[in-house]
Amino acid sequence: MKVALGVSGGIACYKAAEILRGLQDRGFDVVVMMTRGATQFVTPLTFRALSGHKVYVDIFESPSATARGADFEGAFDHILVAQETDLFLVAPATAGTIAKLAGGIADDFLTTFHLAVTAPVVIAPAMNARMWNHPSVQANLKTLTGRGVRVIDPETGRMACNTYGPGRLAPVETIVDYVSNLLQRSKDLKGRRVLVTAGPTVEDIDPVRFISNRSSGKMGFAIARAARDRGADVTLISGPTEFDFPGVIRVRTTEEMRRAVLEKAAAADVVIKAAAPLDFRPASVAPQKIKKRSGGLSVEFEPTADILKELGTMKNGTILVGFAAETENHLANGREKLKSKNLDLVVVNPVSGPDSAFDSDTSRASIIDADGGTEDVPSMSKPELADRILDRVARLLSK
Ligand SMILES: Cc1cc2nc3c(=O)[nH]c(=O)nc-3n(C[C@H](O)[C@H](O)[C@H](O)COP(=O)(O)O)c2cc1C
Repeated sequence: MKVALGVSGGIACYKAAEILRGLQDRGFDVVVMMTRGATQFVTPLTFRALSGHKVYVDIFESPSATARGADFEGAFDHILVAQETDLFLVAPATAGTIAKLAGGIADDFLTTFHLAVTAPVVIAPAMNARMWNHPSVQANLKTLTGRGVRVIDPETGRMACNTYGPGRLAPVETIVDYVSNLLQRSKDLKGRRVLVTAGPTVEDIDPVRFISNRSSGKMGFAIARAARDRGADVTLISGPTEFDFPGVIRVRTTEEMRRAVLEKAAAADVVIKAAAPLDFRPASVAPQKIKKRSGGLSVEFEPTADILKELGTMKNGTILVGFAAETENHLANGREKLKSKNLDLVVVNPVSGPDSAFDSDTSRASIIDADGGTEDVPSMSKPELADRILDRVARLLSK
């Protein structure tokens, strides 16, 4: 398997040579691309000698614009190398390079390559603590994680600039283990058809007002991306969210989600219902805007369809995973849901208090299986939790 190692210009550049070696020791072929800044710290020759491959720095370095035929070889390396890459790791990732990746800027080989590569992207930031804490760095990281980029958080410790705080590159071993684990899982869902649902649904009260809930869709999108990275053929059905995914089917109401899910579920090997469709909707939608009036407004609600229950009833060999967003009696309610809806796994999330999973970048969860086993997963990023859930799904598929 091939890892593209992007090295940007920070003091931790020298550690990239150890990362390269560590990845090779695990059997991966590593090709290196460096920013101009990185070449100020370590020469391309070091990586050339260690990797056994050409090191890419400048997008225009060869050949000339007037070259033809064999002389033109290498001009599209940013595309060709991207096609062969199984994982793109940027380590160290500087504040500047993180900003370029978040903004889609493509002004050197590494950043142009980032736009061409479809393999999973992992970044290991390293910078001074003040830079790390800067709102623009944090906002850029949020943009990238929202797109499915995985971040190996830096450590807190003493820096080269003689200050103390968060920002020191994660240990080489941690980075190598992370990449290696990700690649080992990278094809375990190959050929499997996985249907994922995400986000809230919306029900109208009148032509301008609606009711919805606080689901952001982060968990469902993280699962869809992780399943795709592991080789699955993924269909994602989502309520209104700010995220995007290739081919995502957008729905608005619970009934629209129900219809889309039932249409796609028959062909799926795995259905993961991470969406939070509304359980109730207004019994009737006012045809005109309800006028402001004193004395308040009463709206009568009726139950919506129970999509998960319907899937559980019709299931025929499909692995069915549900989520239970609970504010109390988490495990008891989760077990009850697993049984009453004929699920194979239920992921129970707390959705009240400081640990609330709603709209959070992290979540803790308990994964309950049909044999009654419970795995307590500590608080972790939603992409990491997505992989933990898919580990369980992969195990069930291989039974
Ligand atoms: C000695 C020195 C050490 C630096 N270390 C870091 C660092 O650890 N992290 C970082 O984000 N920037 C660091 N910088 C600043 C970057 O090199 C600078 O922002 C550069 O423009 C980054 O370009 P690049 O991301 O294209 O490599 C350092 C600069 C110098 C001079």
